[in-house]
Amino acid sequence: MPTPAEQVARLRRELNRHNHLYYVMNAPEISDRDFDMMLKELETLERNHPELDDPLSPTHRVGSDINTSFQQAAHVRPMLSLANTYSIEEVDKWVTGVRNALESDDIVIDGEMKFDGTSISLIYENGRLVRAVTRGDGTQGDVVTENIKTIRSIPLEIPAETGRPDNFEIRGEILLPWEAFERLNRDREANDEPLFANPRNAAAGTLKLQNSAEAASRGLDAYFYYVLSDSLPADTHFDNLRAAASWGFKITPVLKRLHSIDEVDEFINHWDIERKKLPVATDGLVFKVNSLRQQLNLGFTAKSPRWAIAYKFPAERALTRLRFVSFEVGRMGIVTPVANLEPVLLSGTIVKRASLHNEDIIRKLDIHEGDMLYVEKGGEIIPKITGVDIKSRPEGAAPVKFVTVCPACGTPLIKIEGEAATECPNKYGCPPQIIGRIEHFAARRMMNIDGIGEETARQLYDTGLVRSSADIYSLTADSLLTLDGFGPRSAQRVIEGAEESKKVPFARVIYALSIPFVGETVSKKIAKAVGNIDRLMTISTDELTAIDDIGIAIAESITDYFADPRNRENVERLRAAGLCMEAEQADSEGGSDTLAGQSIVISGTFTHHSRDEYKALIELHGGKNVGSISKKTTAILAGENVGPSKLEKANSLGIPLLSEDDFLRKIGLDS
Ligand code: IVH
Repeated sequence: MPTPAEQVARLRRELNRHNHLYYVMNAPEISDRDFDMMLKELETLERNHPELDDPLSPTHRVGSDINTSFQQAAHVRPMLSLANTYSIEEVDKWVTGVRNALESDDIVIDGEMKFDGTSISLIYENGRLVRAVTRGDGTQGDVVTENIKTIRSIPLEIPAETGRPDNFEIRGEILLPWEAFERLNRDREANDEPLFANPRNAAAGTLKLQNSAEAASRGLDAYFYYVLSDSLPADTHFDNLRAAASWGFKITPVLKRLHSIDEVDEFINHWDIERKKLPVATDGLVFKVNSLRQQLNLGFTAKSPRWAIAYKFPAERALTRLRFVSFEVGRMGIVTPVANLEPVLLSGTIVKRASLHNEDIIRKLDIHEGDMLYVEKGGEIIPKITGVDIKSRPEGAAPVKFVTVCPACGTPLIKIEGEAATECPNKYGCPPQIIGRIEHFAARRMMNIDGIGEETARQLYDTGLVRSSADIYSLTADSLLTLDGFGPRSAQRVIEGAEESKKVPFARVIYALSIPFVGETVSKKIAKAVGNIDRLMTISTDELTAIDDIGIAIAESITDYFADPRNRENVERLRAAGLCMEAEQADSEGGSDTLAGQSIVISGTFTHHSRDEYKALIELHGGKNVGSISKKTTAILAGENVGPSKLEKANSLGIPLLSEDDFLRKIGLDS
């Protein structure tokens, strides 16, 4: 039996890891519920053993979504979280507690939806949106105003006639509606990009895009649930929210004043079912004391208001039998175990398969042949195996074993050191890896050759027409006509697509090659820094790691790739076919080294160019754009409305402020 100190240490380690996966990587491995349970366990232990408390324990923070490439701003009032529970009884207990604390039975509780997106604080001054900040660590967050401005349902300017206060803050949730989420994932799948597990991750990821035009195209929406101001229009939460709706904000479509515990319970039971018809993801309900005076009396704990509680819906779960585990090989050679299940209905869709991710997970869940497995969906769209019903295990069932040789090509598999993944090393002889690379090469974000999807890539490989990407450029209409389902028009489409692809810029050609660890962003950086294929084929790891954001793993992966004669030969054939093997000169046209050695922070709002354009201009003139002010910062490119804390910091470090016009003059672009 572990000691309390050991238990606390283990829980903190695990929680910190999951926090990072959730907030930084946008790739959670466990459900919110499991996370909350673990956090509660730790809270209880810390309460019972105060000597083990630590100011840095995960119980003392609300999580952080801070992204270093964004400017940060402090919240005027901290953004706290909500106490939450999965049990109706605890909600009832909370109502009773509120009544006791206020010594009154005359209490109105507002019931509303808990939206499952990412929280945002908007600051309005004189009715104009001046700043949008993510929750961050609760005290300060990322300034994402540009992306927020692309959300059509958010009013940017609110006329005084609406009765809005001059200055106020409004908080709400940024969401990607189901429909937009599904469209985005379909697109990502077609482009061979990793899928978002749920709309929440997709919304958070979208908000952090550096490119606000791309953010705009994804179709975010926002619902607001909390107004703060020194001059609020009303003294109840309900009326303030209704007022916010009249100023133009989208507020919760579900908002009801409840007068008794019975009404609270009825509200829960009703919305647990009805919420599925809403256009956006919800993960529970929030109950708030309606009277602001009573809210004030109840006050806050260090982490959350006493006047509110969240009730979280249980994840939907089903039990079904494991038929068999298949092992599937991806483009990069990683072997993924997949549970093939007796079909079962879960949250409106039939589930037949669920990824088991890797060998460690199979072992951790202790899955045996023919086991009854729990499948959950909860906030996750992708079904997940969460456990085994051991009672119904068939007698004598053997544990599921991970394959030791590649199911596709028979090569002995290798386990990657320090990682859970298992890999087939036969990169150039293993069919699914080759087919995966052909498909990736032709996908839209890479060479964009219309007409070569998964099925065609497979046929091209099976018929021997294409064995490496360069073969695509020797395809003829006649050879394509031999494929199933191909006619003169579809054949012509592929030929034309291949011809068109010769115009695709060098960065995308690099991305199309399927070099491990070299994704879209890395490809762009490398194309720009390295310039052409000849240099890339001979570059050393030292030269590569000297490029911003290129670490040793990426550098070695690139040099390994070009050390292999098969890859070099393929690249030479691609060059001979006429693909673009040089970065566009346009990139550096008009550049200079005026800003060489300068580290510039961009802050505030601008009139002549967007923030992204200023970033590009700084780089074009040899400078570096950095996210936050430090001793190393050499100047601040300051627009309108630079936050007071920023100004103070710049002042105290003696960093000069450059106005928009000063900056443009400096680089010879008088406005
Ligand atoms: S009220 C001071 N109302 O849930 C408390 N929060 O777990 C202010 N959320 O960070 C929060 N729907 O992002 C409130 N109707 C709602 C909500 C809601 C979703 C989110 C919010 C908050 C988190 C707390």
